[in-house]
Amino acid sequence: MIHPKVLSQTTFVNEDELSYPFQERGLQFGDGIYEVIRVYQGNYYLINEHVDRLFRSAEAVKLTLPFNKERLYHLLEELLKINKVENDAKVYLQATRGSALRDHVFPIDVEANFYAYVQDLPRPMEKLTSGVAAITMPDERWQNCYIKSLNLLPNVLAKQEAKEHGAFEAILHRDGKVTECSSSNAYIVKEGKIHTHPETNNILHGCVRSRVKILAKELGIPFIEQAFKLEDLQEADEVFLSSSTAEVMPIVKIDGKNVQNGEPGPVTKKLQTAYQEDAGLTASSVPKAT
Ligand SMILES: Cc1ncc(COP(=O)(O)O)c(C=O)c1O
Repeated sequence: MIHPKVLSQTTFVNEDELSYPFQERGLQFGDGIYEVIRVYQGNYYLINEHVDRLFRSAEAVKLTLPFNKERLYHLLEELLKINKVENDAKVYLQATRGSALRDHVFPIDVEANFYAYVQDLPRPMEKLTSGVAAITMPDERWQNCYIKSLNLLPNVLAKQEAKEHGAFEAILHRDGKVTECSSSNAYIVKEGKIHTHPETNNILHGCVRSRVKILAKELGIPFIEQAFKLEDLQEADEVFLSSSTAEVMPIVKIDGKNVQNGEPGPVTKKLQTAYQEDAGLTASSVPKAT
């Protein structure tokens, strides 16, 4: 369910009152940025990381947001309060370069368009417990994937390809090196160590990724930020992904072949438990770590 009160610019309106002009740069050029923030039991998780990344994305594309960070924090808290959100949910927010007649060059004196809404989102417990399948695909995106840009066509096509192959995610590679997935970060575990792509321009600097790094350190699990090869996936002891909506999710099958015995591995499970504790989630919803 999408909760009815939506943030439009810096005021709250009913979702059905929101009208969007067709001369809009987000629609015409994908000229905008966005965030997806997890909400657990009515509270934001990793909100600082998401707000910081939104401002970093804005700066990278020279987009002036219609608020400062402090004001945004306030508006985001109001969004949950006004909708009386107590469940697990996600907040989607996007800012575009505004409404103007179509022209590639930036419009002059046009304010950014901004909206945010909150939608209930139960945790994907079955997938977290059993793991998911993935396919591998070339990474056909641009060179600035660290920007959370609205231009998601390659990601959309990759995710659809995964779906058409009965898989949950597409693991992307550039020149045989795994970058990330279509909408999540990718990791392997080999001999007790986690390997993942470094935070370069070629991946989104995931908020959950940054937390996984901290949790791994606390658990004494080496976290190696070096790109691994496509072949390493099949040789890996464990493979998993992370994102704000998928959390820490085991990948148990890749391109139709099981990863090891096709079951979530012990390092992934330990991270899942640590994640849930970090997010203040109840023990009853924790997939068992062995
Ligand atoms: C391409 C891509 N990589 C990684 C992530 C994970 O980011 P986060 O952990 O901040 O949700 C996402 C999330 O949407 C994504 O779209």
